[in-house]
Amino acid sequence: MTGDSASIVLDTARLRLRPFAAADAPAVQTYCAEVEIARTTLAIPHPYEAGLAAAWIAGHAERRGSGAGWIFAMTTRDDEALVGAIDLRIEAEHARAELGYVVYTPFWNRGYATEAARAIIRFGFDTLALNRIDAHHFVTNPASGRVLEKAGMSFEGVLRQRIRKWGEFIDVRQYAILRSDPAAAPTDPSPKDSAP
Ligand SMILES: CC(C)(COP(=O)(O)OP(=O)(O)OC[C@H]1O[C@@H](n2cnc3c(N)ncnc32)[C@H](O)[C@@H]1OP(=O)(O)O)[C@@H](O)C(=O)NCCC(=O)NCCS
Repeated sequence: MTGDSASIVLDTARLRLRPFAAADAPAVQTYCAEVEIARTTLAIPHPYEAGLAAAWIAGHAERRGSGAGWIFAMTTRDDEALVGAIDLRIEAEHARAELGYVVYTPFWNRGYATEAARAIIRFGFDTLALNRIDAHHFVTNPASGRVLEKAGMSFEGVLRQRIRKWGEFIDVRQYAILRSDPAAAPTDPSPKDSAP
């Protein structure tokens, strides 16, 4: 991890998670207009009206500054392509956050959501001192459940008809990870930690 609180960057093997910039707005606008992205998310409206991406990005600094949340752009380290977004919505009183993510359709099924989720979970426990990170996905979106499992989160149950999406009540599956869970233990020890 590098940077002060306004410009924290998290690097993984293939990705760089960095703050969104105003210059990302045209790409976000194009990708989020796709119905495949809106169908399984709550926060992305469809149609995605002009200007929404720019307004969304403009609000990030305040969200971060107020402690309400951290939103990162997922970008590839080799060519800096914008491949998605990932965020933690913080409930400071409970040292808890809700994880959310989107990978734009041209980049699906390459393991990017999983790689980014692992990194932001580490950030949540190590830097934000969270105790619990949870996440929800529509039962109609099994790919997201796979991401959460691969990121080390445990399935906690089905919340029946928790969401009304486009006029239909949808069951939601809940996952979580605690900082005390074995799956939350750092997997990449520093040279000092691994020294005999
Ligand atoms: C869900 C989403 C984030 C996954 O991103 P991704 O980068 O493709 O995810 P990964 O490549 O890390 O992992 C996807 C896993 O789902 C699996 N998968 C894909 N489609 C699937 C399906 N229809 N049924 C079951 N599993 C599926 C993949 O095979 C892979 O698992 P594997 O590694 O065991 O093979 C992406 O599809 C997306 O952004 N969708 C729209 C927005 C959204 O739903 N956000 C999440 C809201 S909870």
